[in-house]
Amino acid sequence: MNTLDLPTLATRHLLRISDLTASEILRLLRLAAQLKRDLRPFAGALAQRSLVLLFEKPSLRTRVSFEAGFQQLGGGVVFLDHTASRIGARESVEDTAQNLSRWVDAVVIRCLSHDLLDRFASVSDVPVINALSDRHHPCQALADLAALADHGVDPSHANIAWVGDGNNVCHSLIEAVATLGGRMQVITPKACQPSDEVLQFAAMRAFRSGATITCTDDLAAVEGVDAVYTDVWVSMGEDGDRAAKVERMRPFQVNASLMNRAGPRARFMHCLPAHRGEEVTADILDGPRSITLDQAEFRMHAQNALLLSLLRPDLAQRTQD
Ligand code: CP
Ligand code: NVA
Repeated sequence: MNTLDLPTLATRHLLRISDLTASEILRLLRLAAQLKRDLRPFAGALAQRSLVLLFEKPSLRTRVSFEAGFQQLGGGVVFLDHTASRIGARESVEDTAQNLSRWVDAVVIRCLSHDLLDRFASVSDVPVINALSDRHHPCQALADLAALADHGVDPSHANIAWVGDGNNVCHSLIEAVATLGGRMQVITPKACQPSDEVLQFAAMRAFRSGATITCTDDLAAVEGVDAVYTDVWVSMGEDGDRAAKVERMRPFQVNASLMNRAGPRARFMHCLPAHRGEEVTADILDGPRSITLDQAEFRMHAQNALLLSLLRPDLAQRTQD
């Protein structure tokens, strides 16, 4: 019998990948693959359930994949646009969380400061899911590993080169690789390395999983990887001189020369949206080695796997038996 053993707690939040164990991540990836193959066993599974999305920043993929995905499972979605007024401006973060807990079954938040997520989750009676903060993007990392698995890369042995800015997407991927095993070469300018807190956490997880996480500014570290991953050089809400950062990042552009150096096995990955001519050239982003649209598709399957696991673990388990 293949039981999923998914979270059964009434309240279980996903604020960062470190909230999940290795076996939970693997089960979510398996369920995401199953949902891609055939959603029908789960149609109506979230009937009478409600999801609210609170977004302080713009979104295409995250908003639509949560809304369409939840609706395909039979549930209803309410979108609260906070791009013009911060969450907590009209009433406190805690009051907002406690009110929402009385009406909806889960809350998805995209916010400027990760601290808001911690405050919100600390008083929420329903699951809180991070849809991107300044520090983490866990739903993206789950989708990325599910997409890689769909391309034949074992998530527990993936070898990934991150090239560019050591940002929120990078942090979540580091935590995922460190938790599952595998290798990640984080190739950034020294001033743009991932946060020490994430690297320290990753070192602890890697000690258990056997993963190797290295930080370098040497582009030779792309050689032999399964995937080269990049993201925008300046993230939403980031302070500072954009032009100066773009200039500093130029040597870290993913282009044909870098992909050739990575080798024939390397796929190209990007969470999107992308800036052609900055972090990646158009020929690579739009070329045959790019799996970026598969990553985008797996946002929905991975998030649906997460929502089913949180809200209907009984069904998720029975269908996997
Ligand atoms: N990758 C991603 O999160 O895309 P959006 O910003 O469009 O949601
Ligand atoms: N690092 C990017 C990711 C967008 C999906 C940002 O935070 O803007």
